[in-house]
Amino acid sequence: MKPHNNHTFGQKVQHVKSPNSKGIIKHLVSKFEKISLNHRLLFSLYSFPYFGVLRREINLARITSDDVVLNIGCGAMPFTALYVSKITGAQVIAIDNDPQVICQAKQTVSYWNMADRITIMFADGKDVEGIFFTKAIVALQALPKREILKNLTESNVSGATLLFRQPRNWCKNQYDDLPESSSDGFVRHLMPTFSKTLMFAVDKSHKHEEALFEDIPLIADQHNNRSA
Ligand SMILES: C[S@@+](CC[C@H](N)C(=O)[O-])C[C@H]1O[C@@H](n2cnc3c(N)ncnc32)[C@H](O)[C@@H]1O
Repeated sequence: MKPHNNHTFGQKVQHVKSPNSKGIIKHLVSKFEKISLNHRLLFSLYSFPYFGVLRREINLARITSDDVVLNIGCGAMPFTALYVSKITGAQVIAIDNDPQVICQAKQTVSYWNMADRITIMFADGKDVEGIFFTKAIVALQALPKREILKNLTESNVSGATLLFRQPRNWCKNQYDDLPESSSDGFVRHLMPTFSKTLMFAVDKSHKHEEALFEDIPLIADQHNNRSA
């Protein structure tokens, strides 16, 4: 499905800037995932709080065994993919744009005997195409979120449901975020770095285009204004 005003839409997207893409928290999380993926106890302790997150997200998007879930930003320790498939029985296609983590993510999935249900692929959420999915879960760390939303909205069939984790205010300079007013629903979490998951329904894409790309101050401008 393509937007009705692709030219204007595309032009606006080009101006969207990402926040500090080398945020210290993101760096530490990625490092920690790479180190602890072979330690069963560390893996379980670290990923345990996500079990509740996933249960709320699954209820919000009504994910079932009939779904194909695209997980964007799976990391070396792809616990979102593992939990969503374990809880619902859905097939998961988990992608990451860091080639270093792909091999580790594949090993982790095999280690947990989930290779028949989870496919790991090297790809970027902002331009991935040709993958059929019915639901998508986008990691807190994934960016640029607006371009990912645009790509998923344009490239997928109507009826898909997209979930984006939304950073808490205190770490919005570390993670990319989306305007909440354009979402179709949300669930709250008590996680230290994110407070909500926003839901977007692809069949309402035109609403999102307008809400997301018109009259929204650039993220870089917001940060400049804050620090001025
Ligand atoms: C550290 S992981 C955290 C995810 C966590 N393991 C999970 O299962 O929810 C976040 C990952 O998002 C990836 N990422 C960031 N932006 C991305 C994008 N546009 N497309 C694909 N992967 C992305 C990073 O490379 C990083 O590995």
